[in-house]
Amino acid sequence: MAESITITDNRTGDSIEIPIDNGGVAATEWHKLLPDIWFYDPAFMQTAACASAVSYLDGDAGILRYRGYPIDQLAEKSTYLEVAYLLQFGELPNAKQFEDWTREITYHTYIHENLRKRFMDGFHYDAHPMGMLVSGVAALSTFYPEAKDIFDKEQRHKQIVRLIAKMPTIAACAYRFSQGMPFIYPDNDMSFTANFLRMMFEPRRDVDWNDPVLAKALDVLFILHADHEQNCSTTTMRVVGSSHTDPYTATSAACAGLYGPRHGGANEQVIRMLMEIGSIDNVEDFIKGVKSGSGRLQGFGHRVYKNYDPRARIIKKTADEVFEVTGKNPLLDIALKLEEVALADDYFISRRLYPNVDFYSGLIYQAMGFPLDIFTVLFAIPRTSGWLAHWEEMLEQDSKIARPRQLYIGAPERDYAPIANRG
Ligand code: ACO
Repeated sequence: MAESITITDNRTGDSIEIPIDNGGVAATEWHKLLPDIWFYDPAFMQTAACASAVSYLDGDAGILRYRGYPIDQLAEKSTYLEVAYLLQFGELPNAKQFEDWTREITYHTYIHENLRKRFMDGFHYDAHPMGMLVSGVAALSTFYPEAKDIFDKEQRHKQIVRLIAKMPTIAACAYRFSQGMPFIYPDNDMSFTANFLRMMFEPRRDVDWNDPVLAKALDVLFILHADHEQNCSTTTMRVVGSSHTDPYTATSAACAGLYGPRHGGANEQVIRMLMEIGSIDNVEDFIKGVKSGSGRLQGFGHRVYKNYDPRARIIKKTADEVFEVTGKNPLLDIALKLEEVALADDYFISRRLYPNVDFYSGLIYQAMGFPLDIFTVLFAIPRTSGWLAHWEEMLEQDSKIARPRQLYIGAPERDYAPIANRG
């Protein structure tokens, strides 16, 4: 017999049996018994907002898979563009499909000159690159009005390719603007990450941007960041997309969700925290401060992972390879000490707080020469492929517009008083 739960309304004695399907119970069934009683779950702590086949994660076991493939196998054997294909189409490409996909992506890396010269150049000199990215991606929708045709599969594909391809170009454009450096056009003969490093850093000689080890390391980081099921930004993508807006506008909203320090902004905060700690001698005191409530240990803790984040393990290995080229990031010793102290401390053990993906990624980015405020942009570039896979899945599921209920806690009905009578 299929597994089920039974809910009884104690006011009437009426019951309803609801089958457990894929680990969940359908709220629509509950609605039949209790039409005016809502689940109260403001941060979706206990709510599955969709059914998805894109990625799977088991927070207790520390497992992450894209379309069934374990993240460690993909990080070791695949490339970011192959992973982007996998996320989008559900299967790894054959040689011909991969060649076509790579050509498509590399032929859509250019952005319209008006976007670069008139729009991006209009920002204040010290604009945060994430602010520029959020706006730049939204502005792209005005260049491709056909993107509104979201039920035309061919149009959809074209916009998906454009978005994945243009994210690094917009990111590099935002960075170079903030440095007062001239824009570098994409080189479509280079790999995705090598081209991005070149657009960012050419002609700097203090950064090893053309070392293939760094392009490979960035590719691994892009694989690790490509998807992570229903996190804040992906949920934003699905919610905004459910109103049937175009994919540029929905992606811009997802970028905005990523921007915050509780989500993609954490990698930047980790480095700021390590710089503030300053020396391994201050680690114990810093941890004491965190425990007494004077701030959080950035890069630790996760809503779903209650075990070591599998991405953090892979990143540690990547860090060693990068530091071979760039020299060790001086903040690494503080990070290692922090991890050691925290993982042995009851406060962190009892709350099951472990390093997440952001704890070490920032150290690598910094060693590669990326400035702190571009870190979240580096997260947004690969996550775009995950967002778009969820967006397309949502459209193909014939989903309804996202529209939760609320529990009203405001004033009861009262009469309007003219301003003179308000005291
Ligand atoms: N440092 C210290 N204490 C922490 C931390 C932390 N990093 N994270 C959680 N806690 C504590 C909380 O104070 C709380 O303690 P309490 O029960 O005594 O009140 C308990 O652990 C549970 O924390 P919540 O905030 O309820 O957990 P939630 O699942 O809502 O938050 C989050 C998850 C936002 C990631 C949180 O762990 C955090 O703020 N971490 C630091 C920021 C960070 O690294 N974010 C990146 C996440 S990964 C990503 O988005 C790519």
